Amino acid sequence: MLVSPSLLAANFANLERDIDMLNQSHCDWFHLDVMDGVFVPNISFGFPVMEAMARTAQKPLDVHLMIVEPQKFIPEVKALGAKVMNVHYEACTHLHRVVQAIKNEGMMAGVTLNPHTPVHLLEDIITDLDLVMLMSVNPGFGGQKFIPQVLEKTRKLRRLINESGSRALIEIDGGVNRETGQRLAEAGADILVAGSAIFNAPNPHAEIDFLKGLSR
Ligand code: DX5
Ligand code: ZN
Repeated sequence: MLVSPSLLAANFANLERDIDMLNQSHCDWFHLDVMDGVFVPNISFGFPVMEAMARTAQKPLDVHLMIVEPQKFIPEVKALGAKVMNVHYEACTHLHRVVQAIKNEGMMAGVTLNPHTPVHLLEDIITDLDLVMLMSVNPGFGGQKFIPQVLEKTRKLRRLINESGSRALIEIDGGVNRETGQRLAEAGADILVAGSAIFNAPNPHAEIDFLKGLSR
């Protein structure tokens, strides 16, 4: 399992300490949650903060844009040195164009689905995608409760990917902890995002190692 801790749950007054902790851990990516107060009812952080994070982070950046018109920021995300650029299906009228533009910049193109958006809407684009991220909470806040329907949705996505011959990875974001992580692994997830489960734990390394040890 790949583990992508969400910095949304970090201590923003002491980011360097939390980023160092992740640098020393066995986590795989850094998950950065960008919110614009329009696509989601909250505002998190933007490029100046992410540039500072990128200077300290020693693992690939997994950028999750919860913003309208994410295609406007492809050059900025590229300039951060991000490995993955995740855009929301619901925020892209011309999703195919956005996905090609992300790939042309040499980044992995990820498409994220809100809890109510069905997997089958990706049927005609799945072979172009490097990653599909399923939201298992309504985006906008950390620390929310996992929506259990996402387990069956993960199995559906796994079938769509296998049957289409797509190489897309499956990432799950929201309410991931030891228990939901275990069930998501069995359902076919490749990458787990976790914020509060990692940062609020007495020993974040133990949580990361537990999630990393999960397999199908
Ligand atoms: C929610 C964000 C998530 C969030 C996850 O809008 O996209 O990445 O930080 O937080 P937890 O793991 O606490 O649900
Ligand atoms: Zn996220």
